[in-house]
Amino acid sequence: MGRLKVLSARLSNMIAAGEVVQRPASVVKELLENAVDAGATQVDVVITDAGRTLIQVIDDGSGMSPSDAVLCFERHATSKISTPADLENILTYGFRGEALASIAAVSEVTLRTRRAEDETATQVVIDGGSGVKTSTVSAPVGSNFAVRNLFYNTPARRKFLKSDNVEFKHIVEEFTRVAIPRPDIAFTLSHNGREVLGLRKAKSLKFRIQDVIGRGVVGDVVDILADTSVVKISGFVGRPESARKALGNQYFFVGGRYFRSPYLHKAVMKAYDEFITEGLTPSYFIFLDVDPHSVDVNIHPTKTEIKFEDDNLIFQVLSACVREALGRNSFGASLDFDREVAVEFPQTGQGLDEYKGQNLSPLPSIDPAYNPFIPGSSADAAPSRPSSYSQGGLSANKQDYGKLFQPSVAEQDALVVDGRYVVTRSASGLMIVNIRRAWERILYERALGALTDGDVVSQTALFPVQVNVGVQERMLLEENASLLSSLGFDISAAGPDSIVVGGVPEGYNCDSAGVERMIGDLLLILSDSGTALQEVMQQKTASKFAMLGSVNARVPDSPVAVHHLLDMLFACSNSEFTSNGRRIVSILGTDEIEKRF
Ligand SMILES: Nc1ncnc2c1ncn2[C@@H]1O[C@H](COP(=O)(O)OP(=O)(O)OP(=O)(O)O)[C@@H](O)[C@H]1O
Ligand SMILES: [Mg+2]
Repeated sequence: MGRLKVLSARLSNMIAAGEVVQRPASVVKELLENAVDAGATQVDVVITDAGRTLIQVIDDGSGMSPSDAVLCFERHATSKISTPADLENILTYGFRGEALASIAAVSEVTLRTRRAEDETATQVVIDGGSGVKTSTVSAPVGSNFAVRNLFYNTPARRKFLKSDNVEFKHIVEEFTRVAIPRPDIAFTLSHNGREVLGLRKAKSLKFRIQDVIGRGVVGDVVDILADTSVVKISGFVGRPESARKALGNQYFFVGGRYFRSPYLHKAVMKAYDEFITEGLTPSYFIFLDVDPHSVDVNIHPTKTEIKFEDDNLIFQVLSACVREALGRNSFGASLDFDREVAVEFPQTGQGLDEYKGQNLSPLPSIDPAYNPFIPGSSADAAPSRPSSYSQGGLSANKQDYGKLFQPSVAEQDALVVDGRYVVTRSASGLMIVNIRRAWERILYERALGALTDGDVVSQTALFPVQVNVGVQERMLLEENASLLSSLGFDISAAGPDSIVVGGVPEGYNCDSAGVERMIGDLLLILSDSGTALQEVMQQKTASKFAMLGSVNARVPDSPVAVHHLLDMLFACSNSEFTSNGRRIVSILGTDEIEKRF
């Protein structure tokens, strides 16, 4: 007798279940997908003990006939495809006819189901030991699957489950993935008797996303759109400034099906490259539409991995369309106030117009003797002098800047609040500048100039500070001596393991205690960047230098210094956002001020 045996249906189902049903969340996913495929308009998910005790999914979809109610638990029993050609054109979530067989192999399942045309419902109870029991019961149209004691017969798997918190988080994740693309269906999710999510039918995807993820997120996204012969892309991507450290709200859907794609994730991240700091991830909700023939959803048992025929092209289109959306919303390198007015400052556009237009008024004259903190210090008392503070190869765009001020009131208007904001008058209200971010932008552009074009950044001399570093560190600093000097650092060796810092880039506010910390950070940047600074590295490195400086940024302590700071800021190619997309300037419009009273 040979050694080969054909496995019993039960055993082979248990093996298949290993792939399809990894945890309670997998059951939720499969049952939800079936409910949606059945045309439900209301789907309720009831969970007890993170799914260990009970997972119940109730829908008002098509329901099943008494015979289908039994058959649906058979492996390869599916109503969704019937010919090999159908496999090329899948429009439903399911098609493999495996999910229910797999679930029933590792749990106790009760199904109650009724079609609209039937008077009574069918109840099917499956528990491993005693087989299948059917009976006639009364129940509403639709299906009601109750899955109890998951993995009761595979103790190793049951043990493998994580804490209730973790498992329930997975459930919410799967629930969300099904609910987001279907605003036309109402969903509820309750856990241990408490409703966790109640989603009414929503008017659009955006409203659904808002209900699922929270209002804040939707306020923070911009629309994307691309329509090519290969792929149609729509959806929403987060503004760079709302990017977070943790991965969370990143969703891809194709034909309404959630999928994971590290490859397309890269396409999105590429578009954000310059706008967000490394390690932060934006939210996105991206919907692709492709010809069903050009996508294979059958490469993984859980169908969350997908193969596109034209993945390279989709990558390009996606990256371009996200970049375009970010640019359109003025996160780009150049200021485009016309659009900015429409998108960013709906009520305050007027204020920005002041410094974007033509026919600029002459530059204000500034009284160096005036101190905003000393009441009565007069602008008229001292002779005024013209503004001209360009330094370090920066030619300030005074035209733009000039419009910020009403010449006659400039002196009284600039105020430094809390050492953190410059508040100044603009014709339509108040302009608030975040000082630290302003420095970050200024230092970023200077560092980038130094790194890419060999520009030299101006320097502030220090009373020389000696810092003890290691020998290797000293060597690293020496290796980068010319780079550091073009960045505005004056650092020289003072011994085998010590250096002397005689100057720092303009804008860095270093006392001797600060210098030591700064050198430590500098060493981190240098050892991280190496010497091969390609374009991206240069941007990232510049960004790091900028952060380094802006942490201790100098607070302008006189109107001249305020003027100077704004002068430098508005000379930047982008004065509105830091290199990682955080807002620098905000206008508080007169209307908004009025609203407060
Ligand atoms: N909630 C439901 N309402 C109506 N019919 C259902 C429901 N759930 C399952 N069915 C029927 O049972 C069949 C088997 O479901 P099952 O999930 O096992 O396979 P599938 O959805 O066809 O494919 P897949 O294994 O890819 O999910 C379905 O094809 C469908 O006909
Ligand atoms: Mg299914």
